[in-house]
Amino acid sequence: MRILVIGSGGREHALCWKLNESPRVEKIFCAPGNGGTSAIATNVEIDLDRHEDVVTFCVDNKIDLAVVGPEAPLAVGMADHFERAGIPVFGPGFAGARLESSKVFAKEFMGRYDIPTATFRIFDDIAKAKEHIIEFGKPVVVKAYGLAAGKGVVVARDEEEALKAAEDMLVKKVFGAAGSMIVVEECLEGEEVSILVVTDGEKVIPLASSQDHKRVGEGDTGPNTGGMGAYSPAPVIDEDMMETIMGSIINPTIEGLRNDKIAYKGVLYAGLMMTKDGPKVLEYNVRFGDPETQAILPRMRSDLAELLYAAAKGDLSGIEVEWDDEDCVCVVLASGGYPGKYVPGKAITGIKEAEKEGAIVFHAGTRSENGMVVTSGGRVLDVVAKGKGIKKAIDGVYRAVSRIGFEGMHYRKDIAYRAAGRAR
Ligand code: AMP
Ligand code: GLY
Repeated sequence: MRILVIGSGGREHALCWKLNESPRVEKIFCAPGNGGTSAIATNVEIDLDRHEDVVTFCVDNKIDLAVVGPEAPLAVGMADHFERAGIPVFGPGFAGARLESSKVFAKEFMGRYDIPTATFRIFDDIAKAKEHIIEFGKPVVVKAYGLAAGKGVVVARDEEEALKAAEDMLVKKVFGAAGSMIVVEECLEGEEVSILVVTDGEKVIPLASSQDHKRVGEGDTGPNTGGMGAYSPAPVIDEDMMETIMGSIINPTIEGLRNDKIAYKGVLYAGLMMTKDGPKVLEYNVRFGDPETQAILPRMRSDLAELLYAAAKGDLSGIEVEWDDEDCVCVVLASGGYPGKYVPGKAITGIKEAEKEGAIVFHAGTRSENGMVVTSGGRVLDVVAKGKGIKKAIDGVYRAVSRIGFEGMHYRKDIAYRAAGRAR
């Protein structure tokens, strides 16, 4: 099988790494890829905004399967171009991607299909939004309706902050068109969990559960980031809870898509809050999570290429996925200043030494320069280790992290603290 992976982050390195294990895979291309994918795939420069060029590349290179990593190309319908050209693609088309690209679509969808989520109202008028925030009288979350690179959500501490967020989005247009409508919703309390499933539009194969750490600081404090670490499995999700989530959230979502005549092949990712009234959807994503994928795939025993190909061909029947029972922890090493401004081009040392400690090092924002690996993004490396029990996995990952260095490097020292607390 010849595969094209679209994207350039740690998630895509992990996908390439796992695909590369498959005896069925002959060749992997990654567009544009990074300093880590280049070791196992051929990095290619294609203008990803020009979908015809991407399709031409696939035809010229006899690609059997295209795997789209990030949400942005899915949101603008890249998968539809592959479909029309007859190239099996893992990732939904424009219509299905609206579950992530439009929070208004997602909330109305959940409303129509009785899928548990925070109560909400939608506004494009600032006066009405403000009136509602004041009347509601309880903590709210204000969300820009469109894609805003994970920054378009304000969990307001008080009324003043909520009013300011609404004003910033609707009047000051800080997120541009993505904020021309806002969702004002009830603030939910509980523990967050990521549930990812692979679907062909009908059959659903759950992946192992996981939790990520979105805030930059220890104890989940400070500003939100793309994710500072993750681990799998999430101990709050036992078999019974998984059944509840499948029955009340995942299956109704897949059925709703079918009912809406939306063909959906790819990952459906439900970001959930485990509230005292049960699991509720915070958001949908239409792709693998980053960095959850880096903590999930090392636990997968089955053939990822076979799984993704079967989903893309629309037939998951006969596919089973097995997991090893070790825990897996991923720690993100970030550039100094991230999630704010940072200076790229810093030389990285110690990757080989970290690997000798038994860790896997996925590259997120790196590139090769004169035979050296240097930083090229905010999130630079994802260090991953497994262990029998969460404690061993945590010890292993931080032992490996201690081998790596670059100027300004910072990371969270408490990844998986919730799981470790439960294990105690
Ligand atoms: P979203 O992009 O919708 O997932 O929101 C990003 C983050 O904001 C989530 O991962 C949560 O930590 C937080 N969040 C979103 N919606 C809510 C809500 N209704 N209640 C509490 N926290 C929320
Ligand atoms: N880890 C959160 C996300 O992938 O959106």
